[in-house]
Amino acid sequence: MRLELSDVDATEALANALARTQPTPAIVYLHGDLGAGKSTLARAWLRALGVTGAIRSPTYTLVEHYPLHGAARALHLDLYRIAGAGELEFLALDDAGADLWLVEWPERGVGALPRADLQVDLAVRGAGRDAVLSPGSPAGTEWLAGLSKIVACEPLLTPADRNSVQLPDP
Ligand SMILES: Nc1ncnc2c1ncn2[C@@H]1O[C@H](COP(=O)(O)OP(=O)(O)OP(=O)(O)O)[C@@H](O)[C@H]1O
Ligand SMILES: [Mg+2]
Repeated sequence: MRLELSDVDATEALANALARTQPTPAIVYLHGDLGAGKSTLARAWLRALGVTGAIRSPTYTLVEHYPLHGAARALHLDLYRIAGAGELEFLALDDAGADLWLVEWPERGVGALPRADLQVDLAVRGAGRDAVLSPGSPAGTEWLAGLSKIVACEPLLTPADRNSVQLPDP
């Protein structure tokens, strides 16, 4: 699924839609260059799940933990600064049993992370962002099917191919 996110409000609308439809557990890899909008999406997602306190960037701590409703928990990771995937062992992530994983720079933790249910690729496009969402598991495929129903009636979320209708040759 390809979406045009023309401003931060659109990124927040996507985060809301993802939070409303996510399976449990949900492992999400957030790809994209520096400044692509990964943290913006993660922060809005945690807010949508009811996190009201400070949402710190895990840039230096690598991981931040958030209690959610009931006994549910979320992890927000930013692996930009890890020296190698081996460093993740010291974070005892397997014991965390989290219901939601939001992982920035997952390519730096290859081999030490659980498999993604959903991969989100963000890229700068003009003043906004492009988002490409791909499933990584059967749960992810079902998730995207549910998400597409919300996208269809959320005005801030524009499928990218709506503007690239093929015109027949004259
Ligand atoms: N859809 C959007 N349209 C325009 N600007 C956006 C959009 N989404 C996020 N931004 C802006 O992009 C900037 C960078 O965002 P953010 O910090 O989330 O990037 P990041 O991918 O986490 O970067 P890093 O890899 O450095 O952690 C912020 O100023 C944010 O407001
Ligand atoms: Mg970030």
